[in-house]
Amino acid sequence: MERYAIFGDILYSEADMKVMERPSSYLIIRDGKVEGIEGERPRDMVVHDYEGMLIIPGLIDMHLHAPQYQFAGLYMDEELLDWLNSHTFPEEGKYSDLNYAEKAYHIFTQDLLRCESTRFSLFATIHSKSTLLLASMLEEAGFAGYVGKVNMDQNSPDYLCEDTEASIKSTVEVIEAMKSLKNIKPIITPRFIPSCSRELLTALSGISEEYDIPVQSHLDENLSEIEWVHSLIPESQSYADAYRLFGLIGRKKTIMAHVVWPTDEEIELLKSANVYVAHSPSSNSNLSSGIAPVRKMMEMGVNVTLATDVAGGSSLSMLRMMTHAIEVSKLYYRHIDQNFRPLSFNEVLYMATRKAGSFFGKVGSFEPGFDADLIVLDTSDIHTTVYDQLSLSERLELYAYRQAGRAVSAKFVKGKKIL
Ligand code: GUN
Ligand code: FE
Repeated sequence: MERYAIFGDILYSEADMKVMERPSSYLIIRDGKVEGIEGERPRDMVVHDYEGMLIIPGLIDMHLHAPQYQFAGLYMDEELLDWLNSHTFPEEGKYSDLNYAEKAYHIFTQDLLRCESTRFSLFATIHSKSTLLLASMLEEAGFAGYVGKVNMDQNSPDYLCEDTEASIKSTVEVIEAMKSLKNIKPIITPRFIPSCSRELLTALSGISEEYDIPVQSHLDENLSEIEWVHSLIPESQSYADAYRLFGLIGRKKTIMAHVVWPTDEEIELLKSANVYVAHSPSSNSNLSSGIAPVRKMMEMGVNVTLATDVAGGSSLSMLRMMTHAIEVSKLYYRHIDQNFRPLSFNEVLYMATRKAGSFFGKVGSFEPGFDADLIVLDTSDIHTTVYDQLSLSERLELYAYRQAGRAVSAKFVKGKKIL
């Protein structure tokens, strides 16, 4: 049994979105899980002392593309389908070369380590060897989460298009090989409807059932994309319904990225299928995709979480995504529909921690029994005359707006210090 304490200014969300603040307190960790929070220094215990710093649950990036990190921040002048063809697919094609993958994924892993994320669900590429390399590098670095080998067998350039049978076979091989990993798990990853044949979509749903593995994909990101899906699957009621028809939502846990343009029927479907939406405000702004109706989906009972969608999003910083989500929710409220008020800071904190964490188990909070995933933020060089008057949540808010993306001071996943 390993038991120790982390001292600092502790802040986290509970299930009802209530923000809990415990300044100058001790987070007690036992066997990788939170045991409790105490105000007095516990006896006979190692204490990691972060006096004056904020201790918050690790942030969870529900959707990003590891192979796209190398061009994050470049080529932000096109819309989705052109951007995929002109920049994204050519870059992903390079990952057939394991040497390139090793170099690029090393950079990605090191940068992710310094950022605020502790968990994620990410896309690799179609290549099984480099996907496995990425998964083991992330495991080695101490992260937890999902890594998906991407499936694409149509409407893709030759260098990034699989034979249907080969795609199915290598998906199973990757799942089998990942059994040797402890904290990084496989996830079924059809890129989006246009890049997968009906046969492949059906087979992927079967693999997800057989191995009891979740699913992730893209949904309702861009208007041209949606039109394309309607023409490919004309019998579906909607884009979301197309996934349902092939058994890819409603059976296993599912993450759908974006959901910028859902119909009310689609929102109902996402709710009844318990889908997790990965709202990606930075990507949706960069690619001019639109503004997702986040408040509306939340009010209708959908699980809405946050994501960078690197490299649609240019930054790995989830704190930046939190403030960006607030900003676009204000534009939505002011210019699209005044029935849906903007998001608050406490709401986006909840979305990036407690809400997203529920996809992974008891994750994303400091309630007893939760996995001890946490980050330490040094807020001491926020310059303001009101510093001493700030609540912990206001201190985090100021940090998020002014200093998001700076290296965190320490990071723990399942109680293990990884930075
Ligand atoms: N839809 C299909 N592939 C992608 C991708 O790589 N990024 C984004 N943002 N949307 C997609
Ligand atoms: Fe994406």
